[in-house]
Formats: sequence, structure tokens, C-alpha cells
Amino acid sequence: MKCVDDFRLRFGKQEFVPIMVGGMGVDISTVDLALEAARLGGIGHISDAMVQTVSDRRDQTHFTKEKLKLYKYNVANSDKSKVMFDLGRLREATHNHVGRAMQAKRGSGMIFVNCMEKLTMNAPKDTLRVRLASALDAGIDGITLSAGLHLGSFGLIADHPRFRDAKLGIIVSSLRALQLFLRKNARLNRAPDYIVVEGPLAGGHLGFGIDDWREYDLRTIVAEILQYLKTEQLDIPVIPAGGIFTGSDATSYLEMGAAAVQVATRFTATRECGLPDKVKQEYIKAREDDIEVNMISPTGYPMRMLKSSPAIGDGIRPNCEAYGYLLDGSGNCAYITAYNREVAAHPGAKKVSVMDKTCLCTAMRNFDCWTCGHYTYRLKDTTRQLPDGSYQLLTAEHVFRDYQFSVDNKVALPA
Ligand SMILES: Cc1cc2nc3c(=O)[nH]c(=O)nc-3n(C[C@H](O)[C@H](O)[C@H](O)COP(=O)(O)O)c2cc1C
Repeated sequence: MKCVDDFRLRFGKQEFVPIMVGGMGVDISTVDLALEAARLGGIGHISDAMVQTVSDRRDQTHFTKEKLKLYKYNVANSDKSKVMFDLGRLREATHNHVGRAMQAKRGSGMIFVNCMEKLTMNAPKDTLRVRLASALDAGIDGITLSAGLHLGSFGLIADHPRFRDAKLGIIVSSLRALQLFLRKNARLNRAPDYIVVEGPLAGGHLGFGIDDWREYDLRTIVAEILQYLKTEQLDIPVIPAGGIFTGSDATSYLEMGAAAVQVATRFTATRECGLPDKVKQEYIKAREDDIEVNMISPTGYPMRMLKSSPAIGDGIRPNCEAYGYLLDGSGNCAYITAYNREVAAHPGAKKVSVMDKTCLCTAMRNFDCWTCGHYTYRLKDTTRQLPDGSYQLLTAEHVFRDYQFSVDNKVALPA
């Protein structure tokens, strides 16, 4: 019986264990987690979401404080159009975060950074260009473009000296999105090095509609994309993601022609994951009906999360002067609109509750939005319950090796 270790992900002459740990925004997929994946011969991801805040927490910088100081005068103003990121500071923060990972990297694997297009930072093109270019400058092995169609993203770095040597990949949820991307970038004569195909059971934002995500199935989308690439004679590694929970699940995709798998949820139960330990316990003990897909993310994409996330219904004042990562380029964010509506409807109220949107920057910064994959409710089967009722946290190495070597849909429990 075959296992994941019988396969290899190939980029030219380089070979890797075909396990990619997906990016989990705002430091849930930490540098430490990515380092473990790379040490074990696979691919780890960091994420550049809210990179200034992450750098402040990890590297004792003060980017967020400085930005807040600069825009403090605007805190009570609902017009956020003046709240901009200093591109030099953004470059520095990205360099810190990516550089810290790359300097510590050991082993034969690689570290990629997940870059979400929806992180529009009140100047979508300029900030994305800086994020991508600084990650390349800091030596990142590869960039995974996510949360958006990224039709212009390759163009933003086409003149970067590493544009053709770094691995550049795209996450899509449909053949149509992939075709659009390939068509738009044809003139650059640079195909993506890999395509992550993310299905409807993934964590984070979903590339499907809130009403129709149940109608899609990862295996069907992967088969369509493999067939398309074959017909077009395009040799690009395809990496399915979303709901691949056991080594056997992964092996079945490799057997159908996938080059690797991208996995994330199982790593939320590891010590290296950036969620606070208390939150990890919430994930591990979750039952199936504790999880929902909702529309509270201001990005407009559906997001899967635990229903008990403190972010749901919270009505804090928008924190754009400190954060502002989702401002759309004209100072707007769907949370600001929802918040203002509630404030106007409840004059004199000390605190309002906003049910339809959340201040995602603040919620992710405080680990209050517990986004998770569909199979989070199976995490309790991957570990042991301790005498005090809590669950034993795993090591990333344990989970990685379980994916790599397990067969027969088995999950190895920790020692
Ligand atoms: C907690 C969590 C946070 C995530 N954050 C992001 C993110 O910031 N950007 C992104 O592209 N994908 C994100 N994802 C999606 C993963 O990278 C991955 O593709 C997907 O979850 C794989 O499916 P699985 O969780 O069922 O293994 C996140 C997933 C989880 C579980």
C-alpha cells in the first residue's frame, strides 16, 4: 500500500516531500511551524498578513504604535481615506519577518510566504508590490498568491531580479480562475511554478459563494484542472488543499496526479502553531456543529470558523489607524459601514454589537476569529485527552510524519 513518502514534489531537479503546510494568516502558521516543515524536507508557509503587527510582537519593533501615533487625530473620524501605510516601513517589517524565517532555515525543504490580494491596505497595488518585492529581497524561497484573482500581481514584480528564480504559485478554487490568471499573465512569459487548488472544506477565506460552497468538491475541481493542463500541455505541479486529513487522503490525490498536497487544520493542534494554547483547545474539542461558514469577513468572501469565536457580534470601534489592512484604497471597509449603521441606530449606547461583519484586523490580531477547516471536529481523534480533560498538543514533526507515512486512513497518536 502506497503512502505519501512514495511520492516527491519536483521543481526542476529539486525534490521535496510532497507536503506543504498552508499559510495561516496573522501568525497562526508561525516561522517555527514553517521551519519544521522545511527541516523535514517539505514546504512550510509563513503569511505576511498584518506583517507590521507580527513584526512588533516577534521582533520588538514599533510599527503599529508609530502608525497609530501618526493618525491618532483621525480615530473618531469615520472617513479613513487618509490612513495610509508608509511603504518604507512596510518594506522593513516584511524584511524582518521573512528574513527571520530564512536565516533560521535548516534542512532540505523550502519556506514560502502566503500573500493575500484582499489585504488591500488602502493602496492595493503599491502595498502589494512592496510586500512581494521585499519578500523576494529577504530571500524567500517562494510566494503563494491567495485570496484574490491576482491578475496583475506577477506584473508588479516582473522587473525584480528574482522574478524568474523564486517559486511563484497561485491559489485557485476553479478552472475558470486559473484560466483567467494564465491568460492575463501570458505576455510575461512566466507560468506559475505551482497551482494550489483549494476546495470548499478549507480554513480561512473560501473561493466559493456562501450559498453554493456545498455543491463543490475538491476532487472534481482537481481532476478538471489536471485534465486542462494536460490538454494544454502545461507541466505545472497541482497541489490540492482543503479537507485532506489523513496520509491516505493525501496519497489518493498524489495517485490521481497531484504533485503535493497543502494541509493546515491538523497543524492547528501543534505546539508550533501561533494560536494561544487556550484557543488550540477550543479547536481540538470542537464538534461538527460548532463550526459554520459565514460572511462576517469584510473581504466579501465566506469564511469558516468556530461559532464560539469572540469576534462574532463584537462591536468595537474600527482600529484602522493602528491596523487598516482591509481598507480598500478609498478608506472603506465593510466593517466600518456596519459599525456606523449600528452606532446610528443606537444613539447614546456605550457599546454596540455588530452581527453581520467583524473588524477582522483586530479580531485576527487578538486571535479572536477562530477560522478553521471543516474537519477541525476530527482533531480530537488525532491526540490524547489528558487527566484534566484538556488535550495533548502535538509537535509539528509528529503531524508532518503522520501525513508522510501513515496508511489505511490511520492517524498516529502521540507517544
Ligand atoms: C486557521 C487557518 C487560517 C488560514 N489562513 C489562511 C490565510 O491567511 N491565507 C490563505 O491563503 N489560506 C489560509 N488558510 C487556508 C490554508 O492555507 C489551507 O489551504 C487549507 O486550510 C487546507 O485545508 P485543511 O485546513 O483542511 O488542511 C487558513 C487555514 C486555517 C485552518
